[in-house]
Amino acid sequence: MKRIIEPFRIKVVEPIRMTTLEERREYIREADYNPFRLKAEDVLIDLLTDSGTSAMSSTQWAGIMQGDESYAGARSYYRFKESVSDLFGHKHIIPTHQGRAAERLIAMAVLQPDHVVPGNTHFDTTRANIEGTGATALDLPLPEASDPENLHPFKGNIDLARLEKLIDDVGRERVPFVLITVTNNSGGGQPVSMANIRGAREICDRHDIPLLLDAARFAENAWFIKKREKGYEHRWAEVIAREMFELSDGAMMSMKKDAFGNMGGLISINSDEWADKIRNLLILTEGFPTYGGLAGRDLEALAIGLREILEEDYLAYRIASTAYVGEHLAELGVPLLKPIGGHAVYLDGRRFCDHLTDELLPSWSLSCALYEHAGIRSCEIGNVMFGTQDPETGDWHWPQLDLVRLAIPRRVYTKSQMDYVVEGIHEVFQQRTSVPGMRFTHRPDVLPHFTSRFEPVEQAVHTK
Ligand SMILES: Cc1ncc(COP(=O)(O)O)c(C=O)c1O
Repeated sequence: MKRIIEPFRIKVVEPIRMTTLEERREYIREADYNPFRLKAEDVLIDLLTDSGTSAMSSTQWAGIMQGDESYAGARSYYRFKESVSDLFGHKHIIPTHQGRAAERLIAMAVLQPDHVVPGNTHFDTTRANIEGTGATALDLPLPEASDPENLHPFKGNIDLARLEKLIDDVGRERVPFVLITVTNNSGGGQPVSMANIRGAREICDRHDIPLLLDAARFAENAWFIKKREKGYEHRWAEVIAREMFELSDGAMMSMKKDAFGNMGGLISINSDEWADKIRNLLILTEGFPTYGGLAGRDLEALAIGLREILEEDYLAYRIASTAYVGEHLAELGVPLLKPIGGHAVYLDGRRFCDHLTDELLPSWSLSCALYEHAGIRSCEIGNVMFGTQDPETGDWHWPQLDLVRLAIPRRVYTKSQMDYVVEGIHEVFQQRTSVPGMRFTHRPDVLPHFTSRFEPVEQAVHTK
C-alpha cells in the first residue's frame, strides 16, 4: 500500500480546550497581539514551534525512570555520551540545557569583535549569540532561496562561491568557523545536500577553518538527502547522518528537535582547546560538564530519542505528513514556500496579505488572524523577527522573505487535526483582505518577536 500512516499508537492523551471566536479575539487582544504571549491552554492547535514539543515514546519515559541524578559522572551522562558519540563521532561531548546555551558557549569561547561567521542562514538565537560578542553573523544562502516558488531540491545550501569570496575578502584570520544549519530553519526548513557540505569542507580545508554544523534537524536533513541526492537512495538515514557529521569539526544542537527532547542541547567538538574553554564557561552558567544544565533523566530520554529519530518509518511519516499540509494548502491556492520543508510549512505572508505593506507586518498580522479565526498558533519568521531600523534615518530594512511558520510538533497531532489546520487557513485566505495590519507599540532591540507588543491598524490607513 502507498498510504503512509503514523508509525505509533497513542497511549496518553492531553485534552484540548475548545474556544470560540469571541474568546480568541479577546485572548489575542489581551496578549497585545503577540502569539508568544498567549496562554497555551487558549490555543487549539499549537504550531508555534516544533522545539521541545515532541511526544516522547514509551521507551523514553521508561528511560526517565533510569535517570541517575548524581552530580558528577552520572551513569546517564555516559549513556548520553555513547549515543551522541556513536553518531556524531567528535572527540568531546558536552551537554547543555538547550541549543542557545550551546551557541552562547561557543560564541563566548571562540569569537572576537572583528570576527565574521558565515553560514547558510543563521537561526535567530544563533545570530543574536554571535552578534552579542560584537562579531558579525553573515548569511550566504543560495540566490534560489529568496524565490518562494523555486523548487531547488537543496534550497538550504550555503552559496559556496560567496563563501570562498568572503574568506578571500576578509582574510582567513577573521573567520573563526563556518556554520551550516541543517535543515535551514530560517530559510524555510530546507535541506542542505551532502555535496554542499563536502564543498564547504573543501573550502574550509583550503583555508584551515573549522566547519561546524547546527544539527537541530540533522535527521530530517539526512532523510531529504536519501530521497533527493543521487547516490544516497539506498543508504540508511543513520549512515547518511554519520557522513554529514564526519565532514564537520564539530556541531551544536538543540536536542529539543531531532532528539525528541522536551529539553536539551549539546556541543560535540574535536578541538581540545575549544572544549577546554567551553567546559570552563559551562561550569559558570550550566553546571558540571557531565550534566550541563540537564537532569539525569533528561540525558536518558535524549540518548534514546537520538536513536529513535533515525528510524526510517518515522522519518518517512514525518516528512510526508508535513508535505501533506503544505501540498493541500498549495492546491487551494495559498501562497507558501516551496518545496515544503521538513518540520514546517511556511506561508508567504506578503503574497497572502498583499493588501498590507511591509510596515503593516503582513506575516505577523496573518499569524494573529490565524489564531483569531481558528485557534491555530504559528510563528512569524519575517519582518518582526528580522526587520531592522536605521537608527539615523528611521528607515526599515525588511528581510527577503516575510513568512508565517507552521511548525509541526513531532508525533503530536493527528491527520484530522492537520485537516482542520488546512481548512482554517483556507478560510482566512478566502477573506484575506479583511486581515488588519499591525504596528508596534513596544519593540525591544534583541529578539523582538518574543516580547514585542502590537495594535491593529485601521483598514483605512492601509496604503497599498
Ligand atoms: C536551527 C536552530 N538552531 C538553534 C536553535 C535554538 O535552540 P533552543 O531553542 O533549544 O535554544 C533552534 C531553535 O528553534 C533552531 O531551530
